[in-house]
Amino acid sequence: MNRKGVDDLRSNRWFKQDDLRSFGHRSRVKQMGYWGEEFVGKPVIAIINTWNDLNTCHSHFPERVKDIKRGITAAGGFAVELPAMSLGEQLMKPSAMMYRNMLAMEVEELLRSYPVDGAVVMGGCDKTTPGVLMGAISMNLPTIYVPAGAMLRGNYRGQVLGSGTDVWKYWDERRIGNVSQSDWNEIENGIARSPGTCMTMGTAATLMSIGESLGMSLPGASSIPAVDANHNRMCYASGKRAVEMVWEDLKPTDVMSEASFDNAIAVDMAIGGSTNAIIHIVAMARRLGITLPMERFNEISRRVPLVLNLKPSGEYLMEDFFYAGGLPALMTNIGSELKLSAMTVTGRTLGDNIEGAKVWRPEVILPLDTPVNASGGTAVLTGSLAPKGAIIKPTAADPRLHVHQGPAYVFENIADLKARIDDEDLPVTADSIIVLKNGGPVGGPGMPEWGMMPIPAKLLKQGVRDMLRISDSRMSGTSYGSCILHVAPEAAVGGPLAIVQTGDIIAVDVPNRRLDLMVDEEEIQRRLADWQPPRDRHPHGYASLYKAHVTQADEGCDFDFANGAPGSTPEPDIY
Ligand code: FES
Ligand code: MG
Repeated sequence: MNRKGVDDLRSNRWFKQDDLRSFGHRSRVKQMGYWGEEFVGKPVIAIINTWNDLNTCHSHFPERVKDIKRGITAAGGFAVELPAMSLGEQLMKPSAMMYRNMLAMEVEELLRSYPVDGAVVMGGCDKTTPGVLMGAISMNLPTIYVPAGAMLRGNYRGQVLGSGTDVWKYWDERRIGNVSQSDWNEIENGIARSPGTCMTMGTAATLMSIGESLGMSLPGASSIPAVDANHNRMCYASGKRAVEMVWEDLKPTDVMSEASFDNAIAVDMAIGGSTNAIIHIVAMARRLGITLPMERFNEISRRVPLVLNLKPSGEYLMEDFFYAGGLPALMTNIGSELKLSAMTVTGRTLGDNIEGAKVWRPEVILPLDTPVNASGGTAVLTGSLAPKGAIIKPTAADPRLHVHQGPAYVFENIADLKARIDDEDLPVTADSIIVLKNGGPVGGPGMPEWGMMPIPAKLLKQGVRDMLRISDSRMSGTSYGSCILHVAPEAAVGGPLAIVQTGDIIAVDVPNRRLDLMVDEEEIQRRLADWQPPRDRHPHGYASLYKAHVTQADEGCDFDFANGAPGSTPEPDIY
């Protein structure tokens, strides 16, 4: 190992020179009451804290920062807290997704512009994890990822409630009058009852697990409940480790490789991960210069089964997963499908990290040969309706609809859908396929989670609980149903989805991974020639920058200018 010495620290450029600038830098840190010996010639570790009062899932971060600082100080580093934009999935509109790239840029530029030698990046609520990791990759300083941890199980009259998943279920019942106002209030008080992220296998839990399987967090970190004292200890240990990683010069490019991404995809399939994961995995990989063709996901999903019995694909919640042994135990079960020699932030391999991990609750983490479902969580479909791919989570969809042909019923945008979906005389049947346009990266903008469209009230009353729905949007990782998402290219840039008309027949074939518009090619070309893009509602500001530079779902929806080699942007000049 190539150990760094005190003279190699990046922060020395700010603090350890005998010049006027360095004098200024030192005197200003001393303004806060520090002695020079506390920070000059010490690894300066930035704690990227994605906290704010409206990201309710990170409400424990101000406390956890103290634990991380304890660890950094104990290991001889200097801890500095750098808050970054917090992406609260629930309250940010039109979608926290629109701001993931902004967070990535902010993390990268914070680390670059300040005297920082290494980083602890804190994330959890959905897009914060890929956001902080993408930024950390591009800057490429030694970095460790601290996952927020999930909240405790929800509780309603002794029944367990899962974030999102059980809300959709009870909301459908409420829409048709089966749940009273007071019951509904009780559910509202019981479903989110502690700090932490959604505790179903939604996007947050998925991405935290992926961060760990990429090797970026300490072993087992992602499964610890947010309020468990083990979480404080994990924070302390992560801070300590960040200091050591600076001396070892262990950077994201040393940790993550193509093998790590294969592991992340395998884990994603085995845990029944959120459909959103594919976009973020692709985006993170591209920041490292690794291209992941959509076909790679199908290849891995065919061989790695769903072994984790968590909602929305199964029965249990993150708290149960932790008691069952957590991610290291799950990775041991699917060990034959992993590349165990992949490096991690511990400086040891993934295989070393999970050695000896055991499953304590076999009804939660199943063995590879008797899985919850024979194939993995997410399938990528292609065909004339989605030349660059679309995705579905077959394990959360009615198997009857895995192979289906039906007439499209089209909504031009989300406002159109909201206005008409509950019309008593909407001409749809359980065999119809609902199509929503203009909810993609450019169309949304920011690809909001509109893809789990409501079942028309008329059909709900007839007892229909699932039907095929197709859009260029995403859906929440806690959602379920036969929703085909991320259609690329999207409608707003003139993808074939833009020209689908009500009554067109659409053919879905999940086993063969196909999605086709059964309209003849000449007619498709005629309609495409007539197509006009929707009116641009965002000529100014961040949304206009976003729309001008965002890539399609198959390329991870990152900015087209963000993919330089990690660490290749020049260091700032200090004069
Ligand atoms: Fe924050 Fe689900 S809303 S993790
Ligand atoms: Mg979500």
